[in-house]
Amino acid sequence: MTVKEELEERISAALEKAGAPAGSSALVGLSTRPEFGDYQANGVMAAAKKLKSNPRELATKVLAELDIADMAESVEIAGPGFINIALKGEWLAEKVGRMLADQRLGVPVASSPQKIVIDYSHPNLAKEMHVGHLRSTIIGDAIARSLEFSGHDVIRHNHVGDWGTQFGMLIAYLDQQEGDKHAELADLETFYQAARKRFDNEEAFADLARDYVVKLQGGDPHVRSVWQRFIETSLSHCEEIYGRLGVTLKRNDVRAESDYNDDLPVVIDDLKAQGLLEESKGAQCVFLDEFKNKDGEIVPVIVQKSDGGYLYATTDLSAVRYRVGEIGAERLLYIVDARQNLHLKQVFAVARAAGYAPDSVLLEHYPFGTMLGEDHKPFKSRVGGLVKLMDLLQEAEDRAYALVGEKNPDLPEAERREIARVVGIGSVKYADLSLNRTTDYVFSWDNMLSFDGNTAPYLLYSYARVKSLFRRAEIDESALAGEIVLDEKAEKTLAVKLLQFGEAVDVVVREGYPNLLCNYLYELADAFMKFYESCPVLRADEPVRSSRLQLASATALTIRQGLDLLGIETVERM
Ligand code: ARG
Repeated sequence: MTVKEELEERISAALEKAGAPAGSSALVGLSTRPEFGDYQANGVMAAAKKLKSNPRELATKVLAELDIADMAESVEIAGPGFINIALKGEWLAEKVGRMLADQRLGVPVASSPQKIVIDYSHPNLAKEMHVGHLRSTIIGDAIARSLEFSGHDVIRHNHVGDWGTQFGMLIAYLDQQEGDKHAELADLETFYQAARKRFDNEEAFADLARDYVVKLQGGDPHVRSVWQRFIETSLSHCEEIYGRLGVTLKRNDVRAESDYNDDLPVVIDDLKAQGLLEESKGAQCVFLDEFKNKDGEIVPVIVQKSDGGYLYATTDLSAVRYRVGEIGAERLLYIVDARQNLHLKQVFAVARAAGYAPDSVLLEHYPFGTMLGEDHKPFKSRVGGLVKLMDLLQEAEDRAYALVGEKNPDLPEAERREIARVVGIGSVKYADLSLNRTTDYVFSWDNMLSFDGNTAPYLLYSYARVKSLFRRAEIDESALAGEIVLDEKAEKTLAVKLLQFGEAVDVVVREGYPNLLCNYLYELADAFMKFYESCPVLRADEPVRSSRLQLASATALTIRQGLDLLGIETVERM
């Protein structure tokens, strides 16, 4: 149990004993200011309202019922009925000791693990993966890792775009190449542009491309095999990026759009049988009241075009059916650009109406904003085109290499390279993860590679600094023992922070906000730095020395585990 959960349980029990309705919540959160103690319970006001009683009087009764002397050194009523709690040093010390002995560092295992499908990265395979896919890939992977660590059964789905008319053009072009076709695809972007140019300028080629679309859809073996080869190559480009980024998606996580093709007519028939379809201008549509426009007319969700073709939404409906019906998922997460908000709303609504997702299944869209350049316009390369991800990651490592060289010119070359890789990739990922995903985000090399503030270099450096403590004194971290004593304010603050790790992970797991885990790690590193400035460690006498070393060790372990959940590696020195 996290500290917050423990307080919640005890104060809620006291609330009930004091006469509040059953199920009243203590609403425990972190204190907003240090002088208010460590935690604060805000639930008394709501309970008093229900009871039509005076909140401060109720708070007094709650305190009389509250059994918390072992945990808290002071409990006070403030303002209209807040309860402020300052935790006790001995209790914290004991808890930190247990955290250190626990592989999970105090992060609880979910009490009812769920089967969760998480849909992320999902590039369109017609083109090379670009910065537009970076956010979903990075944020999705951090959420997937955190869910897994919390004991959920996580099923990754890479819903790649591998179907549609563009592929007719691409595979017709590929099929017409002489010589090494594989080499042609080495640069997918150039390949796409070249195919596009022929398609736009040569009527005969455009006809051929359209013919290929028909053959592809009709299952023509030759066209299918060329398509297959194209898809394979494009996927291996993505995998190179995943490998370099340390993203956990594997080939067998791919559930491509085309995998749902055979099911699309089944979905249409089923919607029809359920009486959900209406024809409008020749297209098959679902009309749901919740999609009324300003004039009160319902905007339909189109599921089949008048020419019989299916749509993006049809595929997504089939995917919901598969994820819930076949896989048995209890929660579906979509890490998808905010611009697809309406699309997913429609898919979710139709899936509910058709019973593909019963109410017990959670359908959640975790939107994110656009990545912008420093000019606050959509991110472009210096010459104006889309930035290739491989180039971007290379630049990150090169810039980090220069930095490492400045900071630590004496390290061996190979080690400097390795540090630069970890810092460079980590910076790109952390910069994205550390901001609230729902807003647009400005990509800035200078900010992400800064050693000050809430950045990857700062955290990685803090980690290496703790590790250097053990290295310098030749101390075996795993052999640390002895009682933990928290006499100094900075020690206590650090202990309270350490014990909040589980709470930080929990927000990622429940709401998909990795930025809150980033904030937490930043605050932890900061609490450590303050502790380190005011409390001598190696020079302290026993038992304080061992106690402080254990606090340092817990800090390093927590930073490493936290970064790992975000998909970021660490280095032992930098
Ligand atoms: N491939 C789509 C795109 O690039 C994103 C897919 C998102 N996932 C989904 N189930 N619709 O826009």
